[in-house]
Amino acid sequence: MKLFKVFWIFTLGVIFLSGCGNPQNKYPIKIGFSMDTLRAARWGKDRDLFTKKCNELGVGVLVQSAESNDALQITQSENLLSQGIKLLVVVPHNDKSCATIVEMAHKMGVPVLAYDRLITGCDLDMYVSFDSVKVGELMANYVTRLKPKGNYVLMGGGPTDHNAILVREGHNKGLAPFIKRGDIKIVGDQWSNDWLAVNALKNMENILTQNNNKVDAVLDSYDGTAGGSIQALTEQKLQGKVLVTGQDAELAACQRILAGTQTLTIYKPIGLLAAKAGEIAVKMAKKEPITDKTVPIDNGKIKVPGVLLEPIPVDKNNLVSTVIADGYHKMEEVFKDVPKDQWPKTQ
Ligand code: BGC
Repeated sequence: MKLFKVFWIFTLGVIFLSGCGNPQNKYPIKIGFSMDTLRAARWGKDRDLFTKKCNELGVGVLVQSAESNDALQITQSENLLSQGIKLLVVVPHNDKSCATIVEMAHKMGVPVLAYDRLITGCDLDMYVSFDSVKVGELMANYVTRLKPKGNYVLMGGGPTDHNAILVREGHNKGLAPFIKRGDIKIVGDQWSNDWLAVNALKNMENILTQNNNKVDAVLDSYDGTAGGSIQALTEQKLQGKVLVTGQDAELAACQRILAGTQTLTIYKPIGLLAAKAGEIAVKMAKKEPITDKTVPIDNGKIKVPGVLLEPIPVDKNNLVSTVIADGYHKMEEVFKDVPKDQWPKTQ
């Protein structure tokens, strides 16, 4: 009993002290930021740039990451709500189960903004993201220009993320006329749980076996899973012979584009998303009107006001003028395996 008491005093003390030590607590208005994960390269940038923007506008941000655990994301959101936040911003791991978070927040009079990923089946207040259907369409359009006929694989992302469904919608939209004509055949159609490379690797190995390696293109929805697919292709010495897409302009993907093993990535400048979401979030937290032009996004229950930014296709021809020119990655990182005398000249 005594030990139990000591444990609780210690735990509460740690929680209290860590709260006091958090510099975000010095801001009079605070926003909660509940994130699915920090595992994929981009999310650390999202966290830092979103926090920076809100801080510049005089608002603090309390962050929690649920490491792809639905129940934990709900508990963490409850915890954020108990800290007097004026807005809850959520990157959902699961678009459906996060509806509970929205209901919980609303009961406490706190609005919810879905960041990058939609929350479905609830009265969500706001959604700020890139156009994910466009992401998928850009991939399909690019690859069909290079290979208008052949065997295609659709390697989707984590199916609990609505963006994975939207990217697939874009793939289907872009490929539809080719499939209808009989020029393109879908020989593998998979999802990679939690967007993990290791799941794409397994999926791709199976697809290659089932098709006697007769695959011409892989529409991978994300750079991380593209890494898994390319590993499976490499095991069969097919790397560079099969077209592979991805999204996020991750450093490893940019390097693979230069090496010729990945064809395309879709670049989504995180700085723009974080700044736009930050601006809107601060207005919502302060109960000020939103002046941005919004589009209605159907989340299965209501039409959520959405702000959608434009994704940018990047291949070896515009890598320097986009990703590197923006400072998203440094030339010396992206070109690290290319001899320096072959680096492009920049002004
Ligand atoms: C995001 C992608 C990201 C993926 C995996 C998606 O919801 O839109 O940018 O690569 O999640 O984290």
